[in-house]
Amino acid sequence: MKVSVTTLPLHDLDVDLLILPVGLGEAITRAAQIGGVIGTSLSRALQDFDGNPGDTVLIYPEASRSKRVGLIGLGDRGRLDAEALRLAAADGVKLSATTKASTVALCVPDSPMDAESMGQALVEGFLLASYEYSRYKNDESKMRARTERLVLHASADEKSARRGAERGRVVAEATITARDLVNMSPHEKTPTMLGRHVERFGRKYGYDVSLWDKSDIEKEKMGGLLAVNRGSCEPPVFIEMTWRPEKASNIRPVVLVGKGIVFDTGGLSLKPTRNSMDHMKADMAGAAAVIGAMEVLARLEVPLYVIGFIPATDNRPGQNAYVPGDVLQMHSGKTVEVLNTDAEGRLILADALSYATLYRPELVIDLATLTGAQVVALGSQVAAVMTPEDTGAEERLAAVQAAATRSGDWVHPLPMHAHYGKALESDVADIKNIGNREAGTITAGKFLEHFVDYPWVHIDLAGPAFLKKALPYRPKGGTGFGVRLLTEFLRAYAYPKKR
Ligand code: BES
Ligand code: MN
Ligand code: ZN
Repeated sequence: MKVSVTTLPLHDLDVDLLILPVGLGEAITRAAQIGGVIGTSLSRALQDFDGNPGDTVLIYPEASRSKRVGLIGLGDRGRLDAEALRLAAADGVKLSATTKASTVALCVPDSPMDAESMGQALVEGFLLASYEYSRYKNDESKMRARTERLVLHASADEKSARRGAERGRVVAEATITARDLVNMSPHEKTPTMLGRHVERFGRKYGYDVSLWDKSDIEKEKMGGLLAVNRGSCEPPVFIEMTWRPEKASNIRPVVLVGKGIVFDTGGLSLKPTRNSMDHMKADMAGAAAVIGAMEVLARLEVPLYVIGFIPATDNRPGQNAYVPGDVLQMHSGKTVEVLNTDAEGRLILADALSYATLYRPELVIDLATLTGAQVVALGSQVAAVMTPEDTGAEERLAAVQAAATRSGDWVHPLPMHAHYGKALESDVADIKNIGNREAGTITAGKFLEHFVDYPWVHIDLAGPAFLKKALPYRPKGGTGFGVRLLTEFLRAYAYPKKR
């Protein structure tokens, strides 16, 4: 979709659909303000419109340049925020789809919010809500009508609105990169193919990519990644992405780690098919979020030195598959007793996290579809966030939570108190790879904690990464969760004074 910004008078906009977001109780004044043919027909339509979120009304003014005008409720304008605007934009997409509008103008409302944030939220919401995954669809007629062009109408502070619109477009497109990867058929994203996709993105957007093959991974002694890969016909790949701009404000990198299980059968501890294994092409959603974040960093030229690591393999039963009872020697040298081959994510992440210690990172954030327990605890709209309860933990957590609220990629903290770690004590090795029935998301985090020696944040996005039911601007399937969270977090980290 093409996105542009205009300051032309509303009456001069020549589009299939003009969308006006309007706050609660302000429709009458807004109609008077607009005046002309649009204003007149608006004031007549107002009997059917209050301005509550979700309210929409469609009018067809006579002799207006825009073929249709859609009103969209914004709710209480005193409480307007980015999420309300993304939701309003998603309502606009619904109107665009029902009217098959190929050109759409969307007005930035009058509000105390700054034009840049409004522009970003509106464009982001519109692009994300317009998303449909079509790679494998033959019949175009079964797809939604596509909007070709979105024009953001800014009445004041055009420059800021333009900056916001541009950022919203980049962030939405990178989120869509992540969604596409999650939705892709597993046979097209084997570890090797995933690596090739990332190489292509790196070339296109301007970050560096290097791929390690199995022999490199063996040399590095990544015992966790190699063990999970043993049942597979496809070799593992370790993907390294680097964004190191000259004007980076940090010397030591921020490292992002994404779980890259391209398909999780559970291995010999096989998953049942329905409502379990049938979603497991999404087990690389953490990796997809990191790939999307690297895209944003490079496209927005964020002045921060960031490295992304993705340990990639599938997890399958096979003649050589690792078995419950196997004791692994991990990259760090620690030994792990495997008691369930379906707790594979923590094994590949542990190796990536301990490899990251070599970089003396300022901060490491890992994202992983790690536990079913996360979905039970927090559902499919909120990810779990954990950080060791050490110095700086509060600040770190507050920054992640603030970024989550701003971005709409919500998180909620879970504790990492020492006693949870007891569940991982092994009879034969340093630790085992599963706990007991209690607090499964936390014990997975405690497992990973054994492999870090730097400030670290763990995000378990098992629920929000992949939806069974669509949300307003998140479709069924891959959501790209994490891209916007990381973007907000890393931008605030790079430009601390601006916030
Ligand atoms: N990939 C799954 C976690 C998952 C479950 C993601 C549901 C998305 C939706 C992970 O590898 C897994 O199988 N975890 C096990 C761990 C258990 C064996 C300790 C789980 O949560 O059941
Ligand atoms: Mn698993
Ligand atoms: Zn998994």
